[in-house]
Amino acid sequence: MPYPLRLVVDGQEHTLTVDPRTTLLDLMRDRLGVMSPKKGCDHGQCGACTVLVDGRRLNSCLALAVSHDGAQVTTSDGLAEDGKLSDLHRAFLEQDAFQCGYCTPGQVCSAAAVLQEVADGAPSVVTEDLEGPVELTDAEIRERMSGNLCRCGAYVNIVAAVRQVAEGRR
Ligand code: FES
Ligand code: FES
Repeated sequence: MPYPLRLVVDGQEHTLTVDPRTTLLDLMRDRLGVMSPKKGCDHGQCGACTVLVDGRRLNSCLALAVSHDGAQVTTSDGLAEDGKLSDLHRAFLEQDAFQCGYCTPGQVCSAAAVLQEVADGAPSVVTEDLEGPVELTDAEIRERMSGNLCRCGAYVNIVAAVRQVAEGRR
């Protein structure tokens, strides 16, 4: 039975009915024409489908669309404001942080969430000082970005891009 659903994706409101088995990723790509999030594994293992849902990162291939009625979804496309690349997009370009680019929208969304998580003081498994502010070391970046795989192996430059933005925002 189709369920009613309202979603705002990259600032655009959508009101529709969906099969309750539809994932957020399939809904965006197959019905809304939002192609920025990519389908890599479709099993929650690669991070290519990562988007921000109400500000927090999520593997959209594992999320049922009906579970997110009323949500604000932001893809890598939506992080560009007024058609201008964000500082993260520019850093990925400047640091050569991709080759084929297939994983990049998910990497960018994850990186945006990582920067917010660190700003909020949320520790990761490699954070040593749980009392003070979190320092975004390369080990922190690697740990926090570890859910996003890159078949091209652009990891060194992805870390450099995230570091560049973190330093630029200080
Ligand atoms: S496509 Fe969602 S984690 Fe791989
Ligand atoms: S740039 Fe090709 S998979 Fe990451």
